[in-house]
Amino acid sequence: MTSNSSEQTTTIVIFGASGDLTRRKLIPSLCNLFCKGRLGPEVRIVGMARSNMTAQEFRDSLAQGLDASDNLGPDREEWTEFASRIHYCRGDVSSTGDLRGLEDALRSIESSGKPANRLYYLALAPSLYGPAVLNLGSTGMARETDCWRRVVIEKPFGSDLASAQELNKLVHSVFAEDQVFRIDHYLGKETVQNLLVFRFANTIFEPIWTRNYIDNVQITVFETEPVAGRAGYYDQAGVFRDMFQNHLLQLLTVVAMEPPSNFQADLLRNEKVKVLNAVRRITPASAAEIAIHAQYDGYLDEPGVPAGSRSPTYAAMRLDVDNWRWQGVPFYLRSGKALDEKRTEIVIQFRRPPHLMFPQDIGPNILAIQVQPDEGLHLEFQAKTPDGKMELRPVNLEFHYDDSFGGQAIPDAYERLLLDALNGDASLFTRSDEIEEAWEIMDPIIQGLAAPDAPLPSGYAIGSKGPEAADQFLAKDGRKWLHQYGRH
Ligand code: BG6
Repeated sequence: MTSNSSEQTTTIVIFGASGDLTRRKLIPSLCNLFCKGRLGPEVRIVGMARSNMTAQEFRDSLAQGLDASDNLGPDREEWTEFASRIHYCRGDVSSTGDLRGLEDALRSIESSGKPANRLYYLALAPSLYGPAVLNLGSTGMARETDCWRRVVIEKPFGSDLASAQELNKLVHSVFAEDQVFRIDHYLGKETVQNLLVFRFANTIFEPIWTRNYIDNVQITVFETEPVAGRAGYYDQAGVFRDMFQNHLLQLLTVVAMEPPSNFQADLLRNEKVKVLNAVRRITPASAAEIAIHAQYDGYLDEPGVPAGSRSPTYAAMRLDVDNWRWQGVPFYLRSGKALDEKRTEIVIQFRRPPHLMFPQDIGPNILAIQVQPDEGLHLEFQAKTPDGKMELRPVNLEFHYDDSFGGQAIPDAYERLLLDALNGDASLFTRSDEIEEAWEIMDPIIQGLAAPDAPLPSGYAIGSKGPEAADQFLAKDGRKWLHQYGRH
């Protein structure tokens, strides 16, 4: 059901409303949408959590989060108007009785006479996804009659293939796939969508986007923040589950997919699934051949990290995509915490010219797509230095969002994704089969490196560029990590 008629209203129900995600991302993004006039006049927000508080106390706590958020600043009047749409209902999502109470509260809030659509947002601990979905089912709250019912599920979606399959089965016992929006906020980033535009709205890049011209692809997601207060979750997940299974693999699919015939959600996602399906599978026994892992020095002293934990906070890997377009082109992925910079970059290294007629040895062309920060693109090519012999030097063609769009702020990914979920557009959400393919790729790597006889994670200093093992890993293939981007 996709209709959003003016005869209908919409309620966004946030489960886990007292949590960090609600305060830091969901409410600031919804408030921004409101200020931009993109949240229909009939959209209201109802938070549910176990904390005992009044609606006003709830709004006040959200206002504090808004002050701390770096992405916007509504003025007081706008906030007051937006906040008047926010309601609160105390309750435990795993209690059927509490959900019945919520249903009653919703009915009285929605009693404008117009039917109400509902977007249920599970901003919950992953262990509560199952109980929440089942209770939405058993209380009849997922049933679509004249209005739609949708559910947004946060990551991590499962912790391995088996648990993801189980969760998909459970979700599908209550919701049809077109009601389910599994979020990966990397897909909501402006620059990731721009990659689709860059590849499929320009004729000049696509012909060379193949093994015939590309030597290798490097995807880097570096963060400066250590694990700090999130050890309870993070130590269970480690960097493979926290970043690779979702964000990095999603970036890989957008780089490697074939052009869909149109932007319709399922056509786009079919192409992404095909890429994941073509990623070469390995066995746990060979995990150490295609991946390395590391842990920052001091990780074991973080509060909540169990003694002797081997959870990696950094990893690098090589994946091969076995299809006509990519055969023989390695995709190198790396990500880590507590590093010297926050940077998400995709680097395409082209092949060298087949024959060099110049005396000087030159590097290959490089295209760098900066996902964040200082969003943009760089294309490096050779130029002759003026007034001299035939001397060559690499120069850059650059595009920066900031310069080209007059400093217009780049919205938070959640803003786009919330709007898409409200509009029923699932293009930038992960489908059940996509999630399962991604776990199938990641499981043997995680298992292999966690095995008792696997190499222990190497160390790296906080604020460094990561472990030496990552450089050695690429040197094995005769390559280097490229850090291309930066104002030239
Ligand atoms: C989250 C991870 O999904 O993404 C975090 O759980 C990580 O550990 C975050 O810090 C990174 O997101 P962004 O948008 O800041 O790159």
